[in-house]
Amino acid sequence: MKQVTYNGLNFVPFIEKEQIAERVKAMAQQIMADCGDCNPLFICVLNGAFAFASDLFRAFEYDAEIAFIRLKSYEGTGTTGTVKQIHGLTEDITNRTVVVIEDIVDTGFTMKQLIEDLKAKNPTQIKIASLLYKPESLQCDVKVDYVGFSIPSKFIIGYGLDLDEQARNLPDIYVLKEE
Ligand code: HPA
Ligand code: MG
Repeated sequence: MKQVTYNGLNFVPFIEKEQIAERVKAMAQQIMADCGDCNPLFICVLNGAFAFASDLFRAFEYDAEIAFIRLKSYEGTGTTGTVKQIHGLTEDITNRTVVVIEDIVDTGFTMKQLIEDLKAKNPTQIKIASLLYKPESLQCDVKVDYVGFSIPSKFIIGYGLDLDEQARNLPDIYVLKEE
């Protein structure tokens, strides 16, 4: 692992793929302990969570299903500005345990909106699994049930996370270099 450059910005190694794999397995074990026997529906939030979701879901050793959603942004809604809405969820989640899979919880606004929208569909319970979590950036009351790594509020890329759609294919996670 060495320094990588995207859009003229330099990034240095931050979390190695072996560490990621170990944490993802441990997270799957935690979810199995909590929801192993309830056939949960995992919901992968595209695009960023695809890599994490693929590994987490395959490490989950009980019956489960997976669905994929995108969050669509809408402009110009008065004071709130951009509002995100679920796009692509066709599954009926009534009376089901849902595990939302996110790559990162940063300000928490996206997650808060998503949870509210999912709650309106009457699931039994909603759990949140996020590979990364920036506690110092959080601006609303969102409780992440399963956290891979709590990290400082710095910009990161790799393992699904992008800079202008680039770098999602890096197997390791990199952080913006302080020059
Ligand atoms: N990197 C990439 N995407 C993101 C980040 C980040 O640090 N925070 C929120 N979305
Ligand atoms: Mg994301």
